[in-house]
Formats: sequence, C-alpha cells, structure tokens
Amino acid sequence: MESPLVFALILFTTFATATSMQKIHASENPLPVGSNVTLSCQDNVTIGAWLFDNDIIVLIFPGNTIIANNWIDKVSFNSTFSSLTISSVQLEDSGLWTLLAINSFRAQLTLSVQVPISGVTLRANATNLVEFNDTAVLTCSVLNGSSLSYVWLNGSSVVTAGGGVQLSDGGATLTMVRVTHYDEGPFRCNVSNGLSHESSLPVYLNVSYGPSNTMMGIMPMRSTYITGSNITLSCSADSSPPAMIQWMVDGVYLNHFGPHLQLETVAESNSGNYQCVFHNTVTLRFSSKSAMIRIMEPIAAVVVNHTDNGDYQCQAFNSVSNMTSSPYTVNVNYGPMKPVIAGQSMALTGTLETLNCSSASHPPSHISWYYNGSLVASTSNLVIGPLTLNMSGKYICMAFNNITGKNSTAYTMLTILNSLGYVYVEAPTNPAREGYSYKLTCNETGTVKHVYWMKNGEPLREDNTTVFSSDNKTVTFNPLKHNDTGHYQCVAINALWNLTSPPYMLLVNFGPKTPMIHGPAFAETGQYAVFHCSAMSMPPSQFSWWFNGSNVANSSVFTTDVLSLNMSGEITCMAYNNVTGKNVTKSKMLTVIEAIGSVMIRSNTVPINTENFTLTCDVTGPYDTMYWMKDNMHLNMTHSVAEPHMSYHIENNSLHFTPVTLHNEGTYQCVATNQAGPHKSPKYMLLVNYGPLSVKISLPYLTKHDLYVSLTCSADSRPDCDFHWFLNDESSAAVHMGSVITFLATNRGNYTCKATNPVTNITMYKTKDFTVAAHASALRFPSQAGLLMMGLFALSVPVLFN
Ligand SMILES: *[C@@H]1O[C@H](CO)[C@@H](O)[C@H](O)[C@H]1NC(C)=O
Ligand SMILES: *[C@@H]1O[C@H](CO)[C@@H](O)[C@H](O)[C@H]1NC(C)=O
Ligand SMILES: *[C@@H]1O[C@H](CO)[C@@H](O)[C@H](O)[C@H]1NC(C)=O
Ligand SMILES: *[C@@H]1O[C@H](CO)[C@@H](O)[C@H](O)[C@H]1NC(C)=O
Ligand SMILES: *[C@@H]1O[C@H](CO)[C@@H](O)[C@H](O)[C@H]1NC(C)=O
Ligand SMILES: *[C@@H]1O[C@H](CO)[C@@H](O)[C@H](O)[C@H]1NC(C)=O
Ligand SMILES: *[C@@H]1O[C@H](CO)[C@@H](O)[C@H](O)[C@H]1NC(C)=O
Ligand SMILES: *[C@@H]1O[C@H](CO)[C@@H](O)[C@H](O)[C@H]1NC(C)=O
Ligand SMILES: *[C@@H]1O[C@H](CO)[C@@H](O)[C@H](O)[C@H]1NC(C)=O
Ligand SMILES: *[C@@H]1O[C@H](CO)[C@@H](O)[C@H](O)[C@H]1NC(C)=O
Ligand SMILES: *[C@@H]1O[C@H](CO)[C@@H](O)[C@H](O)[C@H]1NC(C)=O
Ligand SMILES: *[C@@H]1O[C@H](CO)[C@@H](O)[C@H](O)[C@H]1NC(C)=O
Repeated sequence: MESPLVFALILFTTFATATSMQKIHASENPLPVGSNVTLSCQDNVTIGAWLFDNDIIVLIFPGNTIIANNWIDKVSFNSTFSSLTISSVQLEDSGLWTLLAINSFRAQLTLSVQVPISGVTLRANATNLVEFNDTAVLTCSVLNGSSLSYVWLNGSSVVTAGGGVQLSDGGATLTMVRVTHYDEGPFRCNVSNGLSHESSLPVYLNVSYGPSNTMMGIMPMRSTYITGSNITLSCSADSSPPAMIQWMVDGVYLNHFGPHLQLETVAESNSGNYQCVFHNTVTLRFSSKSAMIRIMEPIAAVVVNHTDNGDYQCQAFNSVSNMTSSPYTVNVNYGPMKPVIAGQSMALTGTLETLNCSSASHPPSHISWYYNGSLVASTSNLVIGPLTLNMSGKYICMAFNNITGKNSTAYTMLTILNSLGYVYVEAPTNPAREGYSYKLTCNETGTVKHVYWMKNGEPLREDNTTVFSSDNKTVTFNPLKHNDTGHYQCVAINALWNLTSPPYMLLVNFGPKTPMIHGPAFAETGQYAVFHCSAMSMPPSQFSWWFNGSNVANSSVFTTDVLSLNMSGEITCMAYNNVTGKNVTKSKMLTVIEAIGSVMIRSNTVPINTENFTLTCDVTGPYDTMYWMKDNMHLNMTHSVAEPHMSYHIENNSLHFTPVTLHNEGTYQCVATNQAGPHKSPKYMLLVNYGPLSVKISLPYLTKHDLYVSLTCSADSRPDCDFHWFLNDESSAAVHMGSVITFLATNRGNYTCKATNPVTNITMYKTKDFTVAAHASALRFPSQAGLLMMGLFALSVPVLFN
C-alpha cells in the first residue's frame, strides 16, 4: 500500500485545485448517533479520494480502492457509484466530508451527527411575583441532546430579548426584570437541534399587580339627583389579587367595604364627593376613584315668564350616539301689561288728535277706548276730532287679553285749547305736598295785557304764603297748606277778548295728622274689642296696627281675638300716607278685666199691697257699683221727694219696699257696672197684688119674656178673685162658682156673691135681693108648652131689685 499512498499524495499536491464543484448526497443528514449513512455523488470517480476534515479515508484509483486503516471497520466504499457508507456514526463523525476526483471535480458535505433531545424541563426561581418590583429567572434544562437551540414561548408568543428580558446561558436562561402582569405565562422552552425538538411543561408565574384602571360606575347616571332617589355606586379596578375596597365621603371613611355602595332615598345632605379606596394586600399598593354626587330638592313651584319663550329641543345621548328632537316652540301667554298711551296732552280746537294705545301681551290684547264712560273705539288708534273745547278730559284705554282673561287700563288727560288763543293752568308734574313750595303757571298765547287768578270761582288773594309773580303769571304757594286745595283758573285779558282757563284741580297731599283711636280702654274677658283708627290725610292713609309689639292688622279696623286677662296691653295704630311718605302713630292702652257674667233680678216673695217686699239683684262676676232703675230712670239711693208715695230703701244689692204699694208698680232693672261699662239686668215687671177693694153685682136689662136671669159679680182686685154664690143663706153651701150665675127667673131670693183674692186672701161679699113683680103664674110653666104660651101673652114683666 506504500506506492498508492505516495501516489495519492502526489495527486493531492499536484491537483488539489479541482475545476468544478459537485454535490454530495447523504442518505440522511443530520442523523442520529449510531445510524448508518451513505454519501454518494452523481458522477463516477475513477481516480480520487474520500476525505474527512483533510484526512484521507479512501483512495480511489482505477480498479482498486484503499481505505485508511483506522476507518476500515467503519466505512465501506462501493465503486459502482463511488459511494461511501459510514456505519454507526458518532458525534465525532460530524464534519466536512469531501470527494475528490482528480482533474475533474471536488464535492463536499458537512455531515452532522447529533444526540436526539429528551428530558427538557423548565424551572422558575420564584413564581409569586409583584408587578414592577420582582425579577423572574426561568431556567431550561435538557437531559439528552446536542447542538441545542432554545426558543421561549409565553403562551403562543415567542419571547425575544430586549427591554427587561434577557436570555443567557446560550438561551437556556430567561430573565425578566420587573415583571408585568403580561408575564404570567404559560412559559415553555422549546429546545431543538437539527434532528429533534422537545418542549418543556408549562410554567405559570403568579404576578400580583394593581390596583390600576380604577373605575366608578353610578346607576342611574345623572348630573344631579332628585331627593328620594336610590343610587348605586360600583367600583372596580384591575388588581390581582382582587383589591380590598373601602368607601369615603368627603374624605371621611365610611364603615363600608366592598365594590357596591347603595344610597337609598337620598336627601340633599347625602351630596358629596364619594370615593372608593382600593388596596392590594400583596402589592401593598393603594389607588382610589371618586365622583361627585349632587342631590337636590325638586322644585316646589315654577313660574313661567315670557322670557321663557323660544324653541325647545331635547337631546338624548349615550356613549355611542346622540339624537336631537325637532324644535318645539313655546309661547308663554302673558299680559296685558299696563298700556302705554302715545299722543299729545294738549291739542287745538279744529285739529285731529290721534292717541295710540299699546300693551305688551301675548297673544296681542284687544284694545278699547272709553271716554266719559262710553266705548269710543275698539282699535289701538283713537282718532278724535275735529276737536272742540268740550272734548277735553280723560281718555281711557283698556287692553284685554282673551287667553289670560286679564285686562289692564291706562288713561291720558287731553286738554283742548282754543286755537284762537288759549289759556290754561300749568302745574308741576310732581304731586302737591303740604309744607313744600308749589307753583302754578298761567300759560297763554296771544298778547295778554293782564292776568289774574281765581280759586273756586272767587278771585285769589295774595297773602304771606300765596305770592304772585310781578306779571301775575305764576302763583307760588310757599309753603303749601292743605286748605290750598281747590279749583284754580287764570284769566287772561287783552283788548279784544278775555279767556278763562279750564279749572285746574289742585289737590294738596298732606298728613297724616295724629290718628285717633276709637275703642274701649277696658274690655271684658271673653269679649272682642274693636278699635277704629282715623287720621286726616290726603290721599287717605293706610293703617297698620300693633298689639303688644306685633303687627296684627293692616286696615282701619282692628278686632282683637277673644280677650283673656293676660291680653292687656298697648295698641298702636300707624297711619301712612304713601304720597307724602309720612307716617304717624298713636297708642292706647287696653285693660282686660274680668267679665260680669250675668245680672238678674230676683224676689223671694209675692208683692202684696201694703206688705213689705224686696227685690234682689244677683250679679255673677266682680263689679264696681250697682244701681237700680225704674221705668228707665235712675232710682235714687234714698226715698225721693219727687216720689212721695214711694217708700223704699236700698241696702247692698237689695231694694226694699216698706211697704210695697201700687205706686211702686213699674219696670225695674238693676245695673252692675265695671270699668268696661254697665250691665243691665233683664226687665222685671213689678205688679202688686191687692184687693178685692170693692165688689159689684150687675145684670143685663130683662124683659118680662126672659125666662132666665144672669147675675155677674166683679171685684177690683189683682189677681182676679175667685167667686162663690149663695142663695139667701151665706152659711149654707155655695150654689155656684164663677163670676156669672144663671137661674130661672122664678127663683127669687137674696143672691150673695163672695169674692176672694187667692193671693191676698181677702174676701168681700155683696148681696142682691131678686124678686119678680108680675105674671108669676105665667112663669110657673116650666114646660115646653109653657114656653109657647109665653109668646102668646107677650106681656112685660117688671123686675124689681133692691
Ligand atoms: C449498519 O451496517 C451494519 C453492517 O454493515 C449492519 O450490521 C447494521 O445493522 C446497520 N445498521 C443500521 C441501523 O442499519
Ligand atoms: C454496489 O452498488 C451496486 C448498485 O447499488 C450494487 O448492486 C452492488 O451490490 C454493490 N456492491 C457491494 C460490494 O456492495
Ligand atoms: C465506474 O468505474 C468503475 C471502475 O472504473 C467501473 O467498474 C464501473 O462500472 C463504473 N460505473 C459506472 C456506472 O459507469
Ligand atoms: C430569582 O433570581 C433573581 C435573579 O438572580 C433574584 O433577584 C431573585 O431574588 C430570585 N428569587 C428568589 C425567590 O430566589
Ligand atoms: C328606593 O328604595 C326604597 C327601598 O328599597 C324604595 O322604597 C323606594 O321606592 C325606592 N325609591 C325609588 C325612587 O325608586
Ligand atoms: C416595590 O418597590 C418599591 C420601590 O422599590 C418599594 O417601595 C415597595 O415596597 C416594593 N413592593 C413590594 C411589595 O415589595
Ligand atoms: C321674567 O324674567 C326677567 C328676566 O329674567 C326678570 O327680570 C323678570 O323679573 C321676570 N318676571 C317675572 C314675573 O318673574
Ligand atoms: C353628537 O354627535 C355628533 C356627531 O356624531 C358630535 O359631533 C357631537 O359632538 C355630539 N354631541 C354630544 C353632545 O355628544
Ligand atoms: C281671542 O280673540 C281672537 C281674535 O278676536 C279670536 O280669534 C279668538 O277666537 C279668541 N279666543 C278666545 C279663546 O276667545
Ligand atoms: C277687567 O278686570 C277687572 C278686574 O280683574 C274685572 O272686574 C273686569 O270685569 C274686567 N273687564 C273686562 C271687560 O274684562
Ligand atoms: C306754554 O305752553 C307751550 C306749549 O306747550 C310751551 O312751549 C311753553 O313752554 C309753555 N310756557 C310756559 C311758560 O310754561
Ligand atoms: C302769615 O300771616 C298770618 C296772618 O295773616 C300770621 O299769623 C302768620 O304769622 C304769618 N306767617 C308768616 C310766615 O309770616
């Protein structure tokens, strides 16, 4: 083998630079340790060699091959295709294999023999981490394998170095500095070589984070809430582990934890800045979120003002869209406001005058004009004329809004002046007030020689407060007195004519003077007291009342409540004149005293003529004095000379008659008086019982035909007497009771009447002797037949009495 080897060396040194490149094909590459591989080439080699990393493995020359001794067991050469088969390859067989064909080509292949990968494991030095604080170190270990390359996966994403991520140990270690919560995994390492690959089991990192992205939801969402609403506040945050939530209002912790806070039936005082405070007990971080909750009472009353006119639209929106309604036009009906009249206040005879009335109103008001109480126009323009002097006066405009139903009036004074020349009294526009200076001017046209003044039809005289100017055209009242009120005229005279101005009514505003209070100084409990206040004033004053410091009425009359003893006090009336701006007060004391309840006359006995009799006056409640009245006249304490027939005396509250007689009869009252006034008792009618004083028996005129006789007994007595009749014998039983006795005319005898007064118990008698002078026989027929016969006789029957 010496010679071919030498030969080959020569070959290599001589022809090492082959011309063209061919490819070597491996039956498998890369390939696992222990497997067989055949390297071949397309072209046949007749002279050449197989080399491995510049070591000759096989020498090829025509008809023979030589295999290096140390490779003889490991390779075989097939000359048919110049292929080389390596059996049971080892890692060290990796390298550059070359097939050299002398003077032809050189082909090469890098063979890679590898150990298949197995036993890939992944380990983290810590799995519970805090976001932004902690560093995670992941280590990938491989039990078997060669030529390892590492790919790191977080979920399905490949982890690359950069930022806080570092790969070291040839990619076997992944270091994540300051982990974020996106670094939770699952992490895998995928280890590969050309031959095989294997992934580790996943590793999860538990990265605690937050709280962050805090949110507060409010249901329902309003800018402002009506009282009584229920509101739910909900807080959330990104946090692991979940954050603990505590609530605060206006910086004060509530004893309330958890994501929801319910506000039920809220009041205005629940308004405030609501805050939820988040705390992650692992990251030890805090965060918060707040919202302002405004709560308002609903509006209790609203007034629509015509400034609210306009087009109204409502807009609804949510987080993704909004929409606006079409406009709705609001026209507030109002008015009429007080009309404004445009026009002259003076005009000349013969001309036309236009007055225009306008009033702010919606819808527009209907305008009417009135003059002297009559409707003169129903338009806003009133055209008057041609003017005559008697068209002066008050023109009233009334505006009426038929929707609001309201009306409003205004007037203007129009003075018509004679166009030939005119004169009128001009006065300041401010009201005339007593005590101030006031000036009337005589305004006239034409050439006037002289002017003089009239008041109430009489010439006005100058005095120390009424002064004329040198040309008489003005009269100045300084100061104005309230009796300067009156009708003023000025008269302008020249050679051709004289003109008298229309009367100018000067009304002097004055007062109020000190008011007068009419009302009681004393009043009784249980009553009302009524007070009237009056004060001289122009215009009339307005009145207000104060009772013990409180305003109690705003009219001229003040009626108290039902009085009680503690209501004594000071009553003040204030009169106020809104033109002079003055007010004057007057006070009066009211003393409430205990009421006299009742006053009654009582008598315990019946008044009997010539007997003693007493009337007693019973009064309930305290009183100051008491006196008696008879027939509306005061009864003197002692027996009056004017009434000589009366004998009485008054003692305490009793009126004693000693004795009572018919002269005492009359109407009696007793009167109890306190500071509030007299209280009269009801009338007591005193009628004295007496008699009988005399008894009479009478009978009507009788004819002889009368069959019956009636006797009537009467007595002067009070009360009426009881009457009893006796026939002939007073000691026998009475034959009749009552004032009239009727008997047959034949029953002659002595008829006695007994009259007894049931009260005085006095009795008197009277007797009549009754006889019939003639025709006693005829009167003996006590039958019906007899009565008929009596008619036939028709005789007169004289009756005798004594
Ligand atoms: C490799 O070749 C040898 C003999 O040349 C044979 O015994 C062996 O089974 C082969 N191995 C494989 C994996 O084919
Ligand atoms: C060489 O290769 C050819 C073609 O594949 C084959 O027929 C022959 O048997 C091989 N020779 C040896 C000694 O293996
Ligand atoms: C390659 O060359 C060898 C020896 O020179 C020869 O035996 C063989 O048949 C050739 N093969 C081909 C395919 O021509
Ligand atoms: C994990 O490794 C990192 C980097 O070496 C180190 O900072 C950290 O403290 C380690 N963690 C633990 C729990 O050992
Ligand atoms: C609020 O809640 C209370 C109690 O649950 C309920 O009585 C009330 O009607 C609610 N108010 C509103 C406006 O829903
Ligand atoms: C995180 O780091 C900050 C700043 O270095 C430190 O104040 C805080 O205590 C750390 N948090 C934890 C949970 O260690
Ligand atoms: C209407 O509104 C105007 C402007 O806001 C105000 O000046 C006026 O007083 C209001 N009138 C009434 C009656 O409320
Ligand atoms: C309503 O939507 C329009 C367009 O979508 C936008 O321009 C407008 O600002 C929105 N208005 C409100 C109040 O959100
Ligand atoms: C108000 O007056 C107008 C104009 O005269 C009339 O058309 C309308 O019907 C009236 N409305 C009412 C409610 O009377
Ligand atoms: C105008 O208003 C007054 C007071 O409200 C009312 O008494 C009167 O009848 C009204 N007149 C008309 C014409 O409506
Ligand atoms: C008189 O009236 C006329 C017309 O109104 C006016 O111009 C003039 O000033 C008045 N004169 C006086 C003295 O007031
Ligand atoms: C005005 O005259 C009256 C008498 O005519 C006199 O009593 C009074 O004091 C006078 N007043 C002044 C301010 O001169």
